[in-house]
Amino acid sequence: VPVLETAEIQNYVAKGKMAAGMPRAQAALDSLLKRKCPGADMLGWLDLPRTPESDRIKIEDAAKRIQDENDCLVVVGIGGSYLGARAAIEALPEYAAFPVLFAGQNLSAEYHDRLISSLADKRFALCVISKSGTTTEPAIAFRLLRKLLIERYGKSAAAHRTIAVTDPRKGALRGMAEREGFTSFEIPPDVGGRFSVLSPVGLLPCAAAGIAIGDMLDGAASALSHYTRNEPGNDALRYALIRTLLHEGGTAIEVLSTFHPELAQFCEWWKQLAGESEGKNGGGLFPASAVMTTDLHSLGQLLQEGTRNLVETFLVSEQPRRSVIVPADVDDPDGLNYLAGKDLAGINRTAFEATRSAHCAGGIPVLTIGFRTIDAPTLGSLFFFFEVAIAVSGLLLGVNPFDQPGVERYKTKMFAMLGKPGVS
Ligand code: PA5
Repeated sequence: VPVLETAEIQNYVAKGKMAAGMPRAQAALDSLLKRKCPGADMLGWLDLPRTPESDRIKIEDAAKRIQDENDCLVVVGIGGSYLGARAAIEALPEYAAFPVLFAGQNLSAEYHDRLISSLADKRFALCVISKSGTTTEPAIAFRLLRKLLIERYGKSAAAHRTIAVTDPRKGALRGMAEREGFTSFEIPPDVGGRFSVLSPVGLLPCAAAGIAIGDMLDGAASALSHYTRNEPGNDALRYALIRTLLHEGGTAIEVLSTFHPELAQFCEWWKQLAGESEGKNGGGLFPASAVMTTDLHSLGQLLQEGTRNLVETFLVSEQPRRSVIVPADVDDPDGLNYLAGKDLAGINRTAFEATRSAHCAGGIPVLTIGFRTIDAPTLGSLFFFFEVAIAVSGLLLGVNPFDQPGVERYKTKMFAMLGKPGVS
């Protein structure tokens, strides 16, 4: 399970302040676990690490059928119905051997036209994921891709290649799934989008990609037993409290930095989790991310010397999955022979340590979340660690971390401008 290192934070959050704040954090976790907090009707995600084996096997069977009958799977969804699966699939390229493409996560004609063209010579299945079953972006993409499937295979074979993941009862997609006979999976009504990665929302695309979802759930179950312990040493609680105290002291931004580019999409998942859970009533840390060392050559200057209104949290894998040795060159034209024989993974590690030290010296409060390696159990545990921590953070902020009323604003305006019947 992930471990939080806080050595570099002492100058910003004194030990006494942490100790004084911890009872607040423990009270927040207690209200979460006793399901008495704001949004208590949306805590089904706490049960997902213990998904029954029979449910997991159903997902794996559907995934196997997708793999056997197709060249790729197109997953249609947006926000919490998209980010978690993409995060896991991109983090685990060696396990995710079956191609999974994504649609409906934007309204770009270019993106969707290119995607449709790329499917011209491919047998594909569609997995449409929407809790409400009415979200515009995935609904449009589903309409486009379903038309393609029907034109190619006819209505009944197209239905055979379509899987719906949606609310058990409500919404247009549930109705369609029942009428058309799609294979379907349920999103528990008490699980919101950004907390749904360990439900069929994340598990089905991951299983289709080839990820061992049982291992992912096992990792999440370990995290469940660790991070729901209501004690001051609980790292999810400490992380929640530190970021809250920093925010209360004027910190405006949290940058999640990683030296593992394969975690770039994981950072996107985290941004939604934090932003939608906490960004309410004029508060909440703005969640940003940086993928190093790439972003040291774009954001590095700002991080080092810019406005001191941020906290940086490093996401660090201790064991690299691959090794690449820098070759020697007898002429040493680039002066790089001092690195010859060294592993790129080790150089990347040194870059992380140097960056963390430089950013500390530059006056940034720095946290480090370390874990053994990037694999399915680790991802499961990371997902659950952040879910608990952000839920507690939101409760400490005094908001309901499980709703997102502000997301409706753009929709209402867009519907009115597009002339949706009944909207003015
Ligand atoms: O976290 C959330 O609740 C949102 O990001 C939703 O997941 C997103 O808006 C998509 O909603 P739906 O699954 O209803 O299509």
